Amino acid sequence: MEALPVIVDCDPGHDDALALLLAAGDPRLRLLGVTTVAGNQTLDKTTRNARRMLALAGVAGIPVAAGCDRPLVGDLIVAGDIHGESGLDGPDLDVPLAGMPRVADVHAVELMRDLVAGSPDPVTLIALGPLTNVALLLRTHPDVSSRLRRIVFMGGSTERGNTTPYGEFNIVTDPEAADVVLRSGLPITMIGLNVTHQALATPGIIAEFQGMGTRLGAVCAELMTFFAGAYRRNFGFPDPPVHDPVAIAAVLDPPIVRTAAVPVAVELTGTHTRGATVVDLHRRTATAPNADVAVALDVDAFWRLLMTAVRKLGAAAG
Ligand code: RIB
Ligand code: CA
Repeated sequence: MEALPVIVDCDPGHDDALALLLAAGDPRLRLLGVTTVAGNQTLDKTTRNARRMLALAGVAGIPVAAGCDRPLVGDLIVAGDIHGESGLDGPDLDVPLAGMPRVADVHAVELMRDLVAGSPDPVTLIALGPLTNVALLLRTHPDVSSRLRRIVFMGGSTERGNTTPYGEFNIVTDPEAADVVLRSGLPITMIGLNVTHQALATPGIIAEFQGMGTRLGAVCAELMTFFAGAYRRNFGFPDPPVHDPVAIAAVLDPPIVRTAAVPVAVELTGTHTRGATVVDLHRRTATAPNADVAVALDVDAFWRLLMTAVRKLGAAAG
């Protein structure tokens, strides 16, 4: 079966870092390009981190472009309490600059457009951060829509939030962008906290990364060790949930998540609920479905996918 062409838009971010490895390491995907957005950290840091992870994974020749440095409306509030000052605190990631992919001298939106327009097959856009770049792409280049196979995004929740009581970070950071995407009429898959909170990097997972005997495995172990401390301190979680790789896994192995086609709205004006994803799971409104929302995850299959990809990349990169 032909590898599926994908673009990953991300804000690395510990879980974005693992997602990039899965996207680059699984042969079912053809990673056309990586774009970065401000979110977990400022744009300069998320861009540097994406480049670092691709270099560590020994992935060459993939274009990287930086996108928006703030949400469409309002100010950027980063997640330094979760991802640290660098956005990838924990391991020593001083990759020699020479080995890092260069940053394209075009905006992420233009790289996305060029890659989609140049692809012989429709492209799946996988968004792992605030949806600012994706919303701008749809508004700046509406012609792109017909060449997009699907937008799959990690964000929102059918339950409660993580950044506000009812708001998940990627949506809360840029609610207007999420609203543009969810109203686009395009095929959309939403991978929310309700499933990603099941993908926990347990001590066994961390030991498995460490046991790979590769630099990449060791970096993943150190990333998850830092991430575990952050989630313990901030949320009392015993182990950290790796949100973003679940969105990648849902593209390369769709049966790994069970989804429901339901209406999803973004709260834009609620005093206490701005940025909440209002998911009508039981169809109590007359609204037509606009997204396939993940409601269950095959956790064991997910970890097998991710560990296989990291092991393969690590062995090749040394
Ligand atoms: O709420 C979790 C999401 O926000 C993840 O994508 C994480 O990397 C942050 O971007
Ligand atoms: Ca992210």
